[in-house]
Amino acid sequence: MSDPSKTNLITLTRHVFQDQVEHYKEASGDLTLLLTAIQLGCKFVASNVRKASLISMTGLANSSNVQGEEQKKLDVIANEIFVNALRSSNKVAVMVSEEDEEAIFVETQHRGKYCVVFDPLDGSSNIDCGVSIGTIFGIYKVKEGSTGQISDVLRPGSEMVAAGYCTYGSCSTMVMTTGKGVNGYTLDTEIGEFILTHPDIQIPSRGKFYAVNEGNSMYWDAACTKYFHSVKFPQEPKKPYSARYVGSMVADVHRTMLYGGIFCYPADSKSKNGKLRILYECFPMAFLVEQAGGRATTGRKRMLDVQPESIHSRSPIFLGSKEDVEEVEAFYRAEA
Ligand code: AHG
Ligand code: MN
Ligand code: MN
Ligand code: MN
Repeated sequence: MSDPSKTNLITLTRHVFQDQVEHYKEASGDLTLLLTAIQLGCKFVASNVRKASLISMTGLANSSNVQGEEQKKLDVIANEIFVNALRSSNKVAVMVSEEDEEAIFVETQHRGKYCVVFDPLDGSSNIDCGVSIGTIFGIYKVKEGSTGQISDVLRPGSEMVAAGYCTYGSCSTMVMTTGKGVNGYTLDTEIGEFILTHPDIQIPSRGKFYAVNEGNSMYWDAACTKYFHSVKFPQEPKKPYSARYVGSMVADVHRTMLYGGIFCYPADSKSKNGKLRILYECFPMAFLVEQAGGRATTGRKRMLDVQPESIHSRSPIFLGSKEDVEEVEAFYRAEA
């Protein structure tokens, strides 16, 4: 008998379908089909990212987005890939993308019962130098009786039914939750399938790494300054943490999910709400981290309890190992 892991491949679609049948008796299969559309988007983006330099897909698109960022060519094409994949799935009523100023309300003949908020290409500043980037998504179900309106997406992250990210680095790994734990699937490019490689991911309760852009240190508030000082100049016998910062949220969060530690994008005197967007960066990552036994906060409040005011609202975020994040919260309480 050969090694079953080699001859009994658990693909993402199969695993999600089994999870739905096992945990959600009333499952219609719609979420599984929606996640298949998202997988297609990730496979297509992974393929384009790999050969970007070969097909003149690096560099700027000579356009800007609502964030005031200069869009990269891959930002634009990744966005179009996901919008088309989601619309043609017939499972989506509302889409929110980092790259589109307004929410997209899907026309009746293609409309479904889910709302997808997504960052088609996260870490764009790292594209041209080949450093890991990714895609982030979160999924809500439309509210009872709704056919898709803005109130279906302007809701706390605690109402999301699924979330995930895909890394485009040395390999492409999709990490996802449907509310019953977190699993990781690695793309086998030869057969075009995401294969279960990281079942039931659990974040260590404490880590040895901190991730923050130290270049903003002079703008940090007192709680932040004191927290980072405590991990860099700890009391004996504690040892200092190691600094790790990629500058792509997906890459920094993926390392934190697997190794433990803390990822932070604080608010500061320059950016009073921080930089990361609540709907399609903070909420999906906070959902995943909590499902893996970790914690995610704004510093003062559970991240998933935040009520976003608009689709591109931003928030400070600290996420990762439970004990590490609790230490940040203690510093913010002390400064309250
Ligand atoms: P995006 O490329 O989708 O606009 O997101 C970039 C974000 C996030 O990926 C990362 O954590 C953060 O920007 C890095 O910001 P700094 O360069 O200011 O550290
Ligand atoms: Mn991003
Ligand atoms: Mn982006
Ligand atoms: Mn961007």
